[in-house]
Amino acid sequence: MSNSLIIKEKLKKFNKTITVSGDKSLSIRWVLFSSIANGTSKAENLLMSEDVLAAIDTIKKLGIKVILNKNICKIYGKGINGYKYKKNLILNAKNSGTLGRIILGLIINTPNPIKLIGDASLSKRDFKRITEPLSKFGASFKLSKNKNLPLIIQGSNNLQPFKYVENKGSAQCKSAVIFAAMRTEGTTIIKAKKSRNHTELLCKYLRLPVKIENKKNYDVIEVKKVNKIKSLNYKIPSDISSASFFIVLTALSKDSKLIIKNVNINFSRSGILIILKKMGVEIQLKNIRSYKGEKISDILIISPKKLKSINCPKNLNSGAIDEFLIIFLVAAKANGISYFKNLAELNQKESPRLQWGSRILKMMGIKTITTNDSIKIFGNQNLEINKKIIIKNFLKDHRVFMTSVIAALTFGGQWHIHDKDSINTSFPSFLKILDKLKK
Ligand code: S3P
Repeated sequence: MSNSLIIKEKLKKFNKTITVSGDKSLSIRWVLFSSIANGTSKAENLLMSEDVLAAIDTIKKLGIKVILNKNICKIYGKGINGYKYKKNLILNAKNSGTLGRIILGLIINTPNPIKLIGDASLSKRDFKRITEPLSKFGASFKLSKNKNLPLIIQGSNNLQPFKYVENKGSAQCKSAVIFAAMRTEGTTIIKAKKSRNHTELLCKYLRLPVKIENKKNYDVIEVKKVNKIKSLNYKIPSDISSASFFIVLTALSKDSKLIIKNVNINFSRSGILIILKKMGVEIQLKNIRSYKGEKISDILIISPKKLKSINCPKNLNSGAIDEFLIIFLVAAKANGISYFKNLAELNQKESPRLQWGSRILKMMGIKTITTNDSIKIFGNQNLEINKKIIIKNFLKDHRVFMTSVIAALTFGGQWHIHDKDSINTSFPSFLKILDKLKK
């Protein structure tokens, strides 16, 4: 079967209700917490994607029993010191930065060295940002080319607490340090730039000795040694990052309406909703409820008559960090020049996304001025594409693929988009859900 997708027609107007798959960040965190809990944890609606399956494989290799039946998963945790560290163990995080970085905090006391590997995209990404703080606890690391995978971790059984200043806004680094601190005598203090807070919310729900103080631009997190974690049953809500492709699809379509059910709208994740509302998209939150510290809602989106450009406030960056590629498409159709700044972190993702955003817009005939941390997008309200566009060699970045599909379905043209299987990392049912909107 061909691994590329050809799209030659725009999507017709629709009025539908859909559900997207489970939250990736929460699914991976649930797997990791459950693996060091005491007893059996059960998840419903776990995201069945390659990143999450890689997390399950990883804990299995560390001696943890897992039973998986469709998207229902049971993990038989053996407690905080329950991992079995075999000699010559190799763990494979595949495409997942979240797994690759956070797991290091859980195996920081490994007596035997462990090798961590990943796919071509992950092997290009910066791991020094996490091995540096973890070294301060007392573990040692050998990295390839001084900052990449494959790496070898040699743990320590005498971990020392320290004060960690996280200034990139990386939830992966913050979370890895929280997990390492749970194994460390004394108090570890983390001063972290704002980023998604699922790990902290789970700590709070599990009543772990973790104290959180939320300041305006950063959080202070104090973590003490953990002796026991109770098992954790969890119904994973839908992923706002996956929902975002459909939110933007509606925003760029004519006379359409969409309800997306049961989405996690945690404030540290839902920046796209604020940004799109500022750009003139009508978004209503229905049936808002709380679940184990997270906030969940159904989202109603109505196609707007006109889109406005935005000078995006930089304090909205962290809550929308995975959504900028798709937000750029809205800017392409907005009236005026949009400006997104302080986004150097975008080039640290599965592919250099700021560069890819600019490249896709250019192919669509949209002018941009792009630097290494910002992009100005000269919107065209009447944008219609009539040419052939080929999207390839994007390091199989799932979000580049899905953004290109949404562009093809809303702006027209003949698109040939390679590496369809990239969606398997985060959203395997993406194309099936799109098909439902066609009917
Ligand atoms: C994630 C954190 C973010 C985000 C990624 C998922 C997480 O990465 O981009 O998709 O689940 O912790 P960084 O920690 O690199 O900012």
